[in-house]
Amino acid sequence: MTTPIATEEVLLPYEWPGSYFIGEEEIENVTKVLLARSPYRYYGHDLQHFADKVEDFYRKRLGRKYATLVNSGTGALSVAMAAADVGPGDEVLMPGYFWVACVSAVVRAGGIPRLVEIDDTFTMDPDDLERKISPRTKAVLLVHMSGACGDVERIVEICRKHSVLLIEDTAQANGASFRGKPLGSFGDMAIYSFQYNKNVTAGEGGLVVCDKDELGNRVFAYHDVGYARNAAGRVDPHGPVQSWGQCVHMSELSAALLYAQVQKLDLITGTMRARNQRLYAGLSKIPGAKPRRIIDPAGDSGPFVIMTWPSGEICAKMVELTRAAGVRPGPDGIGNIRMTDWGMHIYYHNISLVEKHGVNSAGRPWSDPLNEWARDISYAKGALPRMDDLIERSNLITVPPQLSEQTCDRIIEIFHEAAAKVGLK
Ligand SMILES: Cc1ncc(COP(=O)(O)O)c(C=O)c1O
Repeated sequence: MTTPIATEEVLLPYEWPGSYFIGEEEIENVTKVLLARSPYRYYGHDLQHFADKVEDFYRKRLGRKYATLVNSGTGALSVAMAAADVGPGDEVLMPGYFWVACVSAVVRAGGIPRLVEIDDTFTMDPDDLERKISPRTKAVLLVHMSGACGDVERIVEICRKHSVLLIEDTAQANGASFRGKPLGSFGDMAIYSFQYNKNVTAGEGGLVVCDKDELGNRVFAYHDVGYARNAAGRVDPHGPVQSWGQCVHMSELSAALLYAQVQKLDLITGTMRARNQRLYAGLSKIPGAKPRRIIDPAGDSGPFVIMTWPSGEICAKMVELTRAAGVRPGPDGIGNIRMTDWGMHIYYHNISLVEKHGVNSAGRPWSDPLNEWARDISYAKGALPRMDDLIERSNLITVPPQLSEQTCDRIIEIFHEAAAKVGLK
């Protein structure tokens, strides 16, 4: 067995999957918008309708009635919370493995985020969800983390049983599915992100999808100025909603780039999935190493591999040795990390949440009398013991589409060498 040695070699390309596919089509589409001098999506000299085309793409792909583009996944979450009527007195249940925007969308709406355990799928544990649903639960935010889902069918069933609105956060799992049905088509609403790290990118961007007219009309109004628009793209104050909008549209420039990217979604996720499965097959042969439980591997969109080790100490050592041997990206990338270090994706790293910072100097939503019941909820490390244990013992590897089969095999070899060094037999 060879000994891993520190190397200057960097084996992992940067994550940012869609960026590698920005080419002729993206340039052509964006150029069309510029030549038409029509970068605003609702009207212009010679509107190219790229935003409409992307929305159509997702409506068809997901079998949804409504799709509304916005300027980020964070914007999409805020619009979804407003459409779901989340406010003071309400709680929104979500897993403790998330992204900071999942919490901030609820807090800014005036509601209270309530954390649910994850299981070995690294997504929401349905048993803990069922235990925690209460009469205050306005919505469940099911976050499909790291490219794939958990037991989404059971979670749908629990939400239906309790008549609670289900919102899917599909930001990290664009193009993923469960038993042939696309993620983003299970809940009452779903959101997407097209930020640079995501499976396809517009640089920045997001989407909200749903089926019910009431939700669709509200999503439109909140993503805009609070009202509907007429066929000419002008604000219609006499439409079905009169409210307060967030004006978080996507511009035609971003939509033009995104329209070219979504044509490549299956190519990008298919390539990542193939590499991801090769890595899982090789890494799972290490004694004591356990791969993330993926219920439907064919539906994994592929951008990450998660492996769990017998102890936190072993996990830390494995990451240290394999990074030293080259399983890392360039200085700005994530690459190969112990999950407890995965920044704002881990509930207890969110200082504003742990210390319950308010959105204003009055301390809202925590100080709101309607949220008095939430005073003793803790968000500090220890709030979710099962998740805490899992992420101490697990490492996450990014799997960009540029990762070659040969590099996957070299990564597997390096992990086997490191395992021998730490005494895994
Ligand atoms: C799970 C999840 N939800 C929401 C978002 C927010 O998306 P954006 O960065 O486009 O605001 C992200 C982005 O990282 C995410 O990972």
